[in-house]
Amino acid sequence: MGLIAELTHRCPLQCAYCSNPLALDDRKAELTTDEWRRVLGEAAALGILQVHFSGGEPMARRDLVEMVAHASSLGLYTNIITSGVLLTDEAMAALLAAGIDHIQLSFQDAAAPAADRFSGYRGGHAKKLDAARRICEAGLPLTANFVVHKQNAERVGEMIALGEALGAERIEIAHTQYYGWALLNRNALLPTFAQLEHVNGVVAAARQRLNGRITIDYVVPDYYAARPKACMGGWGNRFINISPSGKALPCHAAETLPGFQFPTVRDVSLAEIWVDSDAFSRFRGVDWMPELCRACDRKEIDWGGCRCQALALAGDAAATDPACAHSPDHHLMGAAVTAADGAPLDLVPRRLRTLSA
Ligand code: FES
Repeated sequence: MGLIAELTHRCPLQCAYCSNPLALDDRKAELTTDEWRRVLGEAAALGILQVHFSGGEPMARRDLVEMVAHASSLGLYTNIITSGVLLTDEAMAALLAAGIDHIQLSFQDAAAPAADRFSGYRGGHAKKLDAARRICEAGLPLTANFVVHKQNAERVGEMIALGEALGAERIEIAHTQYYGWALLNRNALLPTFAQLEHVNGVVAAARQRLNGRITIDYVVPDYYAARPKACMGGWGNRFINISPSGKALPCHAAETLPGFQFPTVRDVSLAEIWVDSDAFSRFRGVDWMPELCRACDRKEIDWGGCRCQALALAGDAAATDPACAHSPDHHLMGAAVTAADGAPLDLVPRRLRTLSA
């Protein structure tokens, strides 16, 4: 249903919880405009409905407007997932003319200077506020996304208030998902149980108060879960993720999985990748599951959870997701929580890539 087009790994921000891989794609390896245009055409022909332009920072690509226009002309619903720091008046006008349907804006906290500290971009929060104003003035639906972790969980109420004040139609409160840079920084980011309960309570109250006005999506941390999440809606089930250099991935973190040859859209059509590739078939459906999962009545609800998490924690991508209380590796979640409790708060920032002028 959805194509996630990671146009570039370049980004002016340096968030320590970035889900991009630790080894970032170089600018020179990025797909060209013509290659992306072809991929978008193949996506529409395959029946894909939505394209999410993501990154890195998708607005770092000078041809973003052209791609939005092309996707729009193909009948695709177009969404940009952006930090907003490059969304000037001119950029907004060009995107509107190109037919953009929706913008998701990320925030690192409720206010500067904390937000700027987490993003490693001084003045970034103020630019995001301007971007939100431009999006709403243009009449576009705005989703305000806030990533929650140990160092900002106390301010979740202020985050929701900010989203409300900005005029967001949807507010996403997302606990950090521990892949890529976030996994590297897990001890400094994983909240305590008391913090989780605080966030749960604030979100529940806000949902009640804002019911019918603003949708609040809430992404909980796997480390306190008893059941795994249906990662990506199931492997090879609903999404195709294209990396900046053209690798077709069932999820943004799949490149961490050993023993895979991920096909590239430079060599293979999207339809062949979706239908025939080993990469998309390997964990699709229920046949690949360990016996424990196959016997579970939730197997077609959570689809076995997250393969990348199974690899990162249990060392085996085909294992039951350790987030599941029935997993023999479930204790690893508790061990991670214990390790994070009281750990130093120093963060390793995502490696900065310089934007072109
Ligand atoms: Fe890769 Fe969940 S992030 S399957």
